[in-house]
Formats: sequence, C-alpha cells, structure tokens
Amino acid sequence: MFGQLTPANSMKWDAIEPEQNVFSFTGGDQIVALAEATGKIMRGHNLVWYNQLPNWVTYGSWTPETLTSVIETHVRTEVSHYAGRIYAWDVINEPFNDNGTMRANVFYSTLNTSYIGIALRTAHAADPKAKLYINDYNLEYTGPKIDAMVRLVEDLLAAGVPIHGIGFESHFILGEVSPSQLQTNMERITALGLEVAVTELDVRIELPVTDADLEQQKADYMSVVQTCSAVSGCVGVTVWDYTDKYSWISSTFPGYGAACPWDANLDRKPAYDGIAMGFTEY
Ligand code: G3I
Repeated sequence: MFGQLTPANSMKWDAIEPEQNVFSFTGGDQIVALAEATGKIMRGHNLVWYNQLPNWVTYGSWTPETLTSVIETHVRTEVSHYAGRIYAWDVINEPFNDNGTMRANVFYSTLNTSYIGIALRTAHAADPKAKLYINDYNLEYTGPKIDAMVRLVEDLLAAGVPIHGIGFESHFILGEVSPSQLQTNMERITALGLEVAVTELDVRIELPVTDADLEQQKADYMSVVQTCSAVSGCVGVTVWDYTDKYSWISSTFPGYGAACPWDANLDRKPAYDGIAMGFTEY
C-alpha cells in the first residue's frame, strides 16, 4: 500500500551526530533496511534544521569557517552513508518564517543564507543521484512564504546550486485545504523546473471528533491528493504518521488530534478512502 517511507526522527541531526564527529546510524539503518526489504523508496529527513539539533551545534561558538566545516562534515557523512539508497533528501528544513523572512537560527545568524548552498552542494557531491529538497510548512497558501521560496529557488538556480525539489509539508487544520492555492503554488515551483511533493500530510481536528468532522477530513485528504495528481511534477504524497496512535499533533496542539488516515486502533478512517479516491478519481 505504501510506496515510500520517511523517518520522523531517526535521521535528524541529534540522532545521527549527537556529539561532534560521533555518528550513530542505528535508527536510520533500520528504516532503510525495512524499506528495502519491502520494496519501498526512502525520503531522507532531514540534514539541516533549526530543531532537534544537538546542543553542541546550537550553542557552539562558531565562526563562519568553523560552522561551514561542521555543516559539510555532517551532510557529507550522512549522505555518503546512505548514498544510492535514498530517493530524495530534505537537505534544508523549514528555513522561513511565515512572513517570508529567513528564520533566525544558528546557521543563518552565522552564515546568512550561504548555509543553504553549502549544504546543497555538499549533499550533491556525496550522492549525485539523490534529489535534493528544501522542505517547509505553510507553503500551501498564497502569500509571503511561498513568494520567498520561489525567490530562493530562483537565486539558487541562478548561482548554479543543485536543487531539485520543494516539499510542501501540508499540516492542515480541518476544512482549511485550498486546492486552488495549493495547485498555484506547486505550479510556481514546477515552472522553475523543480519537482514538488506533499511531504508531511495530516489534517488535525478539534476534539471531540464528530462523524461530520471525519467526512470533512476525508474530503480534505482527497483534495490534497487530487491536487498533487493534477500537477505534473508533483511526485508523491507522504502522510505524517499514518496512525493517530503516534501522531505528533496532540502534544503540539492541545485540544486537537485525530489527524491521520488510521485511528489509534489502526482501523481505517474515512480519510483513507479519501486518499484512494484522490488517486483514482483524478
Ligand atoms: O527521544 C525522546 C525520548 O528519549 C524521550 O523519552 C521522549 C519524552 O518526551 O521524547 C523523545 O523525543 C521526542 C521525539 O519526537 C521522538 O519521539 C521529542 O520529545 C519530540 O519533540 C519529537 O517530536 C518530533 C517533532 O518533529 C520535533 O520537532 C515528532 O516526533 C516529529 O513527528 C516532528 O516532525 C516534524 C518534522 O520533522 C518537520 N516538520 C514538522 C513536523 C511536526 O513537528
């Protein structure tokens, strides 16, 4: 049923390089082995992100030169380890604020936007066949964030930096999917020659959940999948946790939950049928 896997946590910096130059691939190796044993491709998630960083990165006393070396070592070592086994990497995760400015983090404050090209070039050298992505949320609506992403892609392409895809995370609130805005934004990216993907789809519901909510959720899942199907260059849809049992939503958004296509008992919800309809009825 699934054709591809993404690790939610086990390939992030704190898991892979908890201490400088000490690499731990145990969790990542497990999921890659599972994917290969069951005939699935892998998205690698993620290489450079402000969150789930080990303290030694966040609070290090970096100069531009030393932080460049830290990024290069991390990206080269992780991407080389999995070279040939990862279809696409989220090289840069969530670089923007919602207003389209660059998010202040250790990378940006030390290196300005150059950290993005440094990471992308290093990843490309380590696995030239892997598709390299920048991944972010709230790109699903028109506004300053997608505008900023389009400008960034244009700048990277003009500078000859390897960049192949943009991930639309797609963490929706029930009833707030706008297929027309999503399609417009995806097509702005594909018009630049990149692919796009829905990388972290879920649709959170304010609790308690009603039957009407579940029907709306089915419609929301369907319209996202339909939109991706309608955009040539949208290569896939990933759900962010498939079961409500493990979803990140309730801990991050108290009062919300039930965001996944399977419930906590691993029974299919109407959303499951919405996904299937989105693929078949397009
Ligand atoms: O590993 C520790 C464990 O040792 C400890 O006992 C436990 C107690 O809290 O925490 C465990 O770490 C948790 C980790 O997930 C692994 O389960 C963290 O607290 C928790 O914050 C972390 O949440 C993850 C979150 O990213 C962190 O930002 C979610 O699982 C993960 O689904 C979520 O994924 C992100 C994407 O990477 C980027 N886009 C947004 C998305 C949702 O936040």
